[in-house]
Amino acid sequence: MSHTVFRKMFRSRNCPTDRSVLTDIYLMEIISRQQRMASLAKKLRRENKVLGFVPTMGSLHEGHLSLIQKARQMCDVVIVSVFVNPAQFNENSDFESYPRDLTSDAEYLAPYDVDYIYAPEASEIYGEDFTTFVTVDDISEKLEGASRPGHFRGVATVVTILFNTIRPDFGYFGQKDAQQVAVVKRLVRDLKFDTEVIVMPIVREESGLALSSRNSLLNDEDRAAAAVIRKSLLTAERAVEKGEEDAGTIMQIVSEVLESESSARTDYIALVDPDNLDPLERIGDGPVLLAVAVRFGDVRLIDNIVLQEKQ
Ligand code: PAF
Repeated sequence: MSHTVFRKMFRSRNCPTDRSVLTDIYLMEIISRQQRMASLAKKLRRENKVLGFVPTMGSLHEGHLSLIQKARQMCDVVIVSVFVNPAQFNENSDFESYPRDLTSDAEYLAPYDVDYIYAPEASEIYGEDFTTFVTVDDISEKLEGASRPGHFRGVATVVTILFNTIRPDFGYFGQKDAQQVAVVKRLVRDLKFDTEVIVMPIVREESGLALSSRNSLLNDEDRAAAAVIRKSLLTAERAVEKGEEDAGTIMQIVSEVLESESSARTDYIALVDPDNLDPLERIGDGPVLLAVAVRFGDVRLIDNIVLQEKQ
């Protein structure tokens, strides 16, 4: 959207420490200071407001929107953070090239009645002599953790800092990042955060491709071909519904469907316990997470499905 249209949608209001934008409908403040965010959240809690918090790294899409809409339904106040967290990137070049456009993110959020955007600079989160990191052992090293060492330490650390700043009643996360969900749930449980983690279903393109900021990096051919990921998961689900229980067989089914697409290069296929990500040999009575990572060119995509519990 052009700068001019943006100006039409927002009227600026001067504020000494933070930028605020006034839409025709409501006020959405963009907060950049950690202290301002913390004291405001404290004030809102004292007023008995229910706080909903949606952590993001920006580049907002409909996947984020489903979290925000759920927060809006459940809470008095909705806070969305937009912070590209350096601690969760393995490669500095990835961090540097990660898309950042706060103006367009704010514009995107404007119609959805978000109360506050918390968009701190890295120095607000990680002070000069910052040395304290939070590690959720074991779960963090599996699946995504194997190819992205330190990634979940970065996630757990920033979520801890953000939760400590805002102390939300509810924190919203997407099922697409199933391992992140497992890590955050464990973090909240172990460190006794007074925040309930709400997980929202994966939002998909019409082709079945799970929404992700990375999809924009796919060329048209790969984007069409990547629909095979969802197809492979649904084929596995149908096999389980027909009575297949063996993990090896189910993973083989997924592999064959993925191989039917010549541009897909499978990174992993895993059938695991959704809470601790331990591999499972059979479909049992509880929920089972079938997770995959697949490359198309240089772009690595993840997706998953929770297979039905046995009736
Ligand atoms: O899922 C994300 O966008 C990030 O990992 C999160 C939770 C905002 C932490 O930086």
